[in-house]
Amino acid sequence: MENYNIVSTNKHLMKKVDVRLDDVRRVIRLMHPRPIVLLTCSDKEGKENAITVAWSTPTSFEPPMVAVSVSPKNYSHSLISETKEFVVNVPPIDLLDESYFIGSYSGKELDKFKEIKLTKKPAKKVKAPIIEECFAHLECKVEKEVNTGDHTLFIGLVLAAYSSEGAFTNEGVIDIKKFKPIMHCGGNIFTTISDKIFKPKELKI
Ligand SMILES: Cc1cc2nc3c(=O)[nH]c(=O)nc-3n(C[C@H](O)[C@H](O)[C@H](O)COP(=O)(O)O)c2cc1C
Repeated sequence: MENYNIVSTNKHLMKKVDVRLDDVRRVIRLMHPRPIVLLTCSDKEGKENAITVAWSTPTSFEPPMVAVSVSPKNYSHSLISETKEFVVNVPPIDLLDESYFIGSYSGKELDKFKEIKLTKKPAKKVKAPIIEECFAHLECKVEKEVNTGDHTLFIGLVLAAYSSEGAFTNEGVIDIKKFKPIMHCGGNIFTTISDKIFKPKELKI
């Protein structure tokens, strides 16, 4: 177990600097790094696409719900709106180049699956495919769409969930030694997590 006191006692964190609210990227990047996911989706005719998303979050245990925020400017937005389905695929750091590619080109102009070597496989409950090289998959049905400004929050009920073998430790948490997510700092800067495990001390009331 690692000691984390070196971070919590760091005096420089106490000195604050304003971020201008019109500097929208910096405002939002105060909540980064964030793990990215690859959403897969398809239209009613079965044309498939994938989009890289840094803005995703679980929202409920029971029922299991997740939310993803997608700009209407993106082609995937129209597909998810049309079929009310998407799959959350969690890529390992090894898929950084492919994930950046998926997040840099639109399925309106090209078939991203043809351009990069990722394996599409049929999902269990939805028409959208899964990306086999990812280590976790959550098949979702959209229950609610919320316009939040320049993005739409698609809130999905998880219909099926599965992972690569050995995803969990005996304690039932993701084995971070085996599965390294891609963390987005902003722009084309990414990182991943370390092997270090921290457990909080029980602070006395
Ligand atoms: C690291 C990264 C994170 C991104 N996060 C989001 C996001 O959370 N929501 C979103 O709408 N677009 C996000 N994008 C942008 C889309 O992935 C990008 O516009 C993509 O080309 C859209 O593809 P599409 O037109 O085929 O749907 C992100 C891109 C990158 C590279």
